[in-house]
Amino acid sequence: MLDVNIGEVTCTGGAGFIGSHVVDLFVQLGYEPLVVDNLQSGNREVLPPQVRYYHVDITSPQIKAVIEKKRG
Ligand SMILES: NC(=O)c1ccc[n+]([C@@H]2O[C@H](COP(=O)([O-])OP(=O)(O)OC[C@H]3O[C@@H](n4cnc5c(N)ncnc54)[C@H](O)[C@@H]3O)[C@@H](O)[C@H]2O)c1
Repeated sequence: MLDVNIGEVTCTGGAGFIGSHVVDLFVQLGYEPLVVDNLQSGNREVLPPQVRYYHVDITSPQIKAVIEKKRG
């Protein structure tokens, strides 16, 4: 679920029940969560407004673009 990279953490399913609590914890610890979620069952509104969010299905080819953007 997590890919740690110098303060930035990718949280797939981060708009879901468990994921949103994990995102909150990372924010509290000073990390910068990046959420990838297709909102199949999650809710964008549970995320703190400053958290970067990509509406992407992790099984789709679009996930490659998210990873490449993250790597800069
Ligand atoms: N105690 C409570 O109040 C409460 C509330 C809700 C759920 N629960 C429990 O929590 C568990 C479920 O929590 P969870 O966090 O595992 O599930 P979840 O459905 O809340 O979270 C999964 C997240 O992954 C996303 N997702 C699914 N497939 C995806 C894909 N292919 N690409 C991108 N995103 C995708 C969904 O949109 C969702 O946001 C269950 O056991 C449920 O009973 C408890």
